Amino acid sequence: MSEPYVITIDGASGSGKGSLALRIARHLGFHLLDSGAIYRLAALQALRQKVDLNNEVAVVEVLQDFDIHFEEGEELSIPYLDDEDVSSQIRLESTGDAASIIAQYPAVRARLLERQQQCLRAPGLVADGRDMGTVVFPNAHIKFFLYASPEIRAQRRHKQLISMGISANIAQLQAEISDRDERDRNRSESPLLPAPDALVVDSSLLDLDQVTQLMISHIDEVTT
Ligand code: DC
Repeated sequence: MSEPYVITIDGASGSGKGSLALRIARHLGFHLLDSGAIYRLAALQALRQKVDLNNEVAVVEVLQDFDIHFEEGEELSIPYLDDEDVSSQIRLESTGDAASIIAQYPAVRARLLERQQQCLRAPGLVADGRDMGTVVFPNAHIKFFLYASPEIRAQRRHKQLISMGISANIAQLQAEISDRDERDRNRSESPLLPAPDALVVDSSLLDLDQVTQLMISHIDEVTT
């Protein structure tokens, strides 16, 4: 039997990778891995256990007993921590920030690596995150890296949070996005960088339909 097909989509937060990964997975009938959700679940676990996020050893310790799973919902898959639906909690900016802090730790990344690789199933997987094409699935068949300016990303995140009923302030979001970019790009372990063989797509001036089309055309080109 041939190996499941893997498409990776990496990029900074708010670059649109989550929505694009969902659309492309649906279009191809592939499974979806939102790796950021796994880091957010880990952060939520650490926050709930009131662990000092600056203490790598303590954070890894609480991940020894890390019970998570995803269930297919109507739109997105629903994340569970200890059998509790935590969809809204993991989307909070505070959880995203905590995720970015603990994601700097090599021991945390090592702990979560296998959990991400286990998501690979036939006929294929669309995996989105920061290091899908560089570390988690370095042999992926197709790799994308999405870029979008911090201003545009803050606007998109604002719209997304409001639609989820979570209040937010654009200026504050932009400051948080810049901080998180800085941390994600400059960490020594799996920094946010395009894989050398990734197609870099700047989505700043394109809408979701246009980027989807561009990516699907590239997939069609490579696979036919
Ligand atoms: O994509 P996101 O905003 O849900 O990710 C939240 C944080 O998790 C992000 O700031 C960095 C971390 N993360 C990571 O380090 N590696 C990944 N593959 C996915 C997310």
